[in-house]
Amino acid sequence: MIEISTIWNLICPRLTESELVKNLNELSMQFTVRRGDLDRYTQDEKLVAAYSAFYLPTNMPKFKFLMDQLEPKIREQISQSHFWDFGSGPGTFSLAYLDYFSRADDLKVTLVDSSKLMLSQARLFLSSLFPKRMVKYLDKLPKEIQGKKTLLFGHSFNEIGYQRAIEIIRQVDPDYLIMIEPGTKEVFSYINDLRIYMREHGYACLYPCLNLHSDCPMTSRLSDWCHGVMRMVHDPDLERLSQLIKKDRRNMPFIAHVYQKGSWQSDSDKGTEQARLVRFLNNSKFGFEVEVCLCKENDLVIEKIQLLKKDMTKEEIKKFENINVGSKLTFTVIKKFDDFIRVKLSC
Ligand SMILES: C[S@@+](CC[C@H](N)C(=O)[O-])C[C@H]1O[C@@H](n2cnc3c(N)ncnc32)[C@H](O)[C@@H]1O
Repeated sequence: MIEISTIWNLICPRLTESELVKNLNELSMQFTVRRGDLDRYTQDEKLVAAYSAFYLPTNMPKFKFLMDQLEPKIREQISQSHFWDFGSGPGTFSLAYLDYFSRADDLKVTLVDSSKLMLSQARLFLSSLFPKRMVKYLDKLPKEIQGKKTLLFGHSFNEIGYQRAIEIIRQVDPDYLIMIEPGTKEVFSYINDLRIYMREHGYACLYPCLNLHSDCPMTSRLSDWCHGVMRMVHDPDLERLSQLIKKDRRNMPFIAHVYQKGSWQSDSDKGTEQARLVRFLNNSKFGFEVEVCLCKENDLVIEKIQLLKKDMTKEEIKKFENINVGSKLTFTVIKKFDDFIRVKLSC
């Protein structure tokens, strides 16, 4: 795992804590209020340094969570493909990729970003932390891209724009597409358009949808949308920074999707049911009630399930209390009631 102190020591230029706070507040204004010139922060070295100090280390863990949700054979194929990190910024997900697959040989990584400052910060991080890896830095995509490839957009889809992102997907023609974006309703609406695009172009969804051929059941809910929530405790220095700028990074809503070209058959046990955790509803002394998204007669539906604590060990209860929303649950059905299903977790 990459230590926060290692990242902070490599940031250029060095900022004092008060400069960091000032620049992070400015960055936050640019992301949320002054959205007209969305890429202005990428041309200012202090804002790039502030982004690298805060958003890079808090976004990076999302990659590990996502990879852990995939089956081992998929992870292996992703590690064997060329990793294209589009809108790489300071290298957030290239670092996460090299760190996650640190035992794999011959990893190939290319970062693409229109900001020279972002790329030079990324180069500092990657060449210091992974000096032996084959990494390239480009300001635009080359005309021809060959071989097996994984294309990742990390918090960049919004800035790039939907139409341009689709052109990039067409040009790269990835074997795997990974999107990791903020967990907002606005992101959900264009990710849902992308979901339909990927379905129509022969891709299978590996995360989060258990059936890409069904419409997303969240689209019929007015004030809800499909997103995960990562629950994390960060390094104390990062926790302090997040308190100073009043940004909660312990509960991080995110929207992530993973697609694979062609069809896909899960290896998981056919004797059990699967669902995606959508929301915690209740944690009483008897058990947990949660909402899940599951596949029923080929349609995705949102259902309420109940897990009884008497069926769980102490460790399982603790683990479940801290589980991220968006995790896959595998279970056997114990009893069906009118408005909920009682289940027992398989693992
Ligand atoms: C919010 S940052 C995300 C950085 C990193 N992927 C992460 O998740 O932390 C978005 C990045 O996308 C880059 N970007 C925006 N539009 C782009 C485009 N059309 N081509 C290449 N990079 C672009 C910006 O320069 C910026 O570095």
